[in-house]
Amino acid sequence: MINDLWYKNAVIYCLSVATYMDANGDGIGDFQGLTRRLDYLQGIGVTALWLMPFQPSPFKDDGYDIVDYYGVDSRYGTLGDFVEFAHGCRQRGMRLLIDLVVNHTSNEHPWFKEARRDPKSKYREWYVWSKKKPRNAASGMVFPGVQKSTWTHDQTAKAYYFHRFYDFQPDLNTANPKVQAEILKIMGFWLQLGVSGFRMDAVPFVIAEKGPEIARPKEQYEMLRGFTQFLNWREGEAIILGEANVLPDTDMEYFGGAGERLQMMFNFEVNQNLFLALATSDSRPLVKAMRATKSRPATAQWGQFLRNHDELDLGRLNEADRETVFAAFGADLDMQLYGRGIRRRLAPMLQGDRRRLELAYSLMMTLPGTPVIRYGDEIGMGDDLHLPERNCARTPMQWSTEPHAGFTKNDKPILPTISVGPYGFQHVNVAAQRRDPNSLLNWMERTIRMRKEVPEIGWGDFSFISTGTPQVLAMRYDWRNNSVLFVHNLSSEPREVRLALKREGEADCILANLLSDDHSRAEKGAPHHILVEPYGYRWYRVCGLDYLLKRSDT
Ligand code: GLC
Ligand code: CA
Repeated sequence: MINDLWYKNAVIYCLSVATYMDANGDGIGDFQGLTRRLDYLQGIGVTALWLMPFQPSPFKDDGYDIVDYYGVDSRYGTLGDFVEFAHGCRQRGMRLLIDLVVNHTSNEHPWFKEARRDPKSKYREWYVWSKKKPRNAASGMVFPGVQKSTWTHDQTAKAYYFHRFYDFQPDLNTANPKVQAEILKIMGFWLQLGVSGFRMDAVPFVIAEKGPEIARPKEQYEMLRGFTQFLNWREGEAIILGEANVLPDTDMEYFGGAGERLQMMFNFEVNQNLFLALATSDSRPLVKAMRATKSRPATAQWGQFLRNHDELDLGRLNEADRETVFAAFGADLDMQLYGRGIRRRLAPMLQGDRRRLELAYSLMMTLPGTPVIRYGDEIGMGDDLHLPERNCARTPMQWSTEPHAGFTKNDKPILPTISVGPYGFQHVNVAAQRRDPNSLLNWMERTIRMRKEVPEIGWGDFSFISTGTPQVLAMRYDWRNNSVLFVHNLSSEPREVRLALKREGEADCILANLLSDDHSRAEKGAPHHILVEPYGYRWYRVCGLDYLLKRSDT
């Protein structure tokens, strides 16, 4: 398999321009500020950025309500600033992905305004209407508890319009060829400005049938092939990273049997079960999820993540398991959201326990796929539960001990910086962690560097090695006659495990520790004995004896 599928072994970092760095002091992050931080990002070692929406927006859903797909919100700068930034990424060899939010527009988008006003407008058919209130209007909400229906009456249009998300986000009629053509045009526009692809928002809803009569919407998977084909005509290396929180048995529909649909998807199945495994110190749910999502075309890749900008959605777990994760990581009702998830940041969920944070990150980076890191998690940022819904985990990046964490010189940042408690910027910030060789930030940088040196994870086949205890997970990857082995102890107790490496020629191998000097050597034919401390982890390269000899030669 050719190596130039860059996303097979990338390290993606996601951020929101609004809360990253404010250069002009108006309290809102901007492209100039972000551009100044590119060297920081390159320094941690990330190879691609994913920007959340930055197009003009009334900002009722953090920018996921767009009024102009071909622009930059003036609060963040100009298109010129965007291009400078994109160029800055390219100069540093970093690829750029941007959010593509085309399931819906803002209700203030000129298309929707036209559509409401004039039944004869060409934009009328760009949205989804019903004269009467559809029977299923009170079902299918994405934000239960906050959103009351999926069909809302519009006085001007004298009809109901469909919205899978909030009522200010009318769904585009994505089956309409004109809408599809416009989606391609939007992609083409940003490709021309230098992006390497898109994180496609809400994919299952984009491709679902929409309409008043549709009770169980079917997915129009072939639509995805159309998007990807266009993308690759325009730009060979461009990809779509799909947000599709779907059951494993439909994964292959999204990737396409020959990888002709989406190149990447977030692995929500593994994500939820990873948290269940962390909550119970039992690796079995994670193993099961990894097996269920194992098959994918050779060119496709998973995006593996811990937390993102939304709630940690636990909707796929059964009720008992969900309650277990709630009890462990978000016991207060205020920490939970939409009846299905936890809205906190990772560090407070793990009580700021460095051992558990490292364990969680080590796991994420060694799961089959490409890791996606959320901004601020590299320094262990916290959340502000006073902020509504998902905003609690979207506070400004904490750069230093200067006022407002050095994010802005303005007294009114777009969202308040965290300034009290153990996660306040006085304690958790980049400047301090940069100077401390033992900080989480420097750990992250070292770990990312090593992750990039282990392409077996991105390209190889994984298998599990029996450890004799569900608390300890051992997985290996094989690729091009190279093998790596990862051991994770999910429990708070030290564990001794015996690992039998059974393949031919391995009986007498050495496990070379990639992160420290503590290698493991087994007696001839005997299993490796490894003692792993509480929440400990090991990254090994499986080496034959000739490796040892070579080392002593030099
Ligand atoms: C996706 C985004 C979420 C947004 C929603 C509507 O789920 O991740 O943040 O609210 O789509 O666009
Ligand atoms: Ca600004």
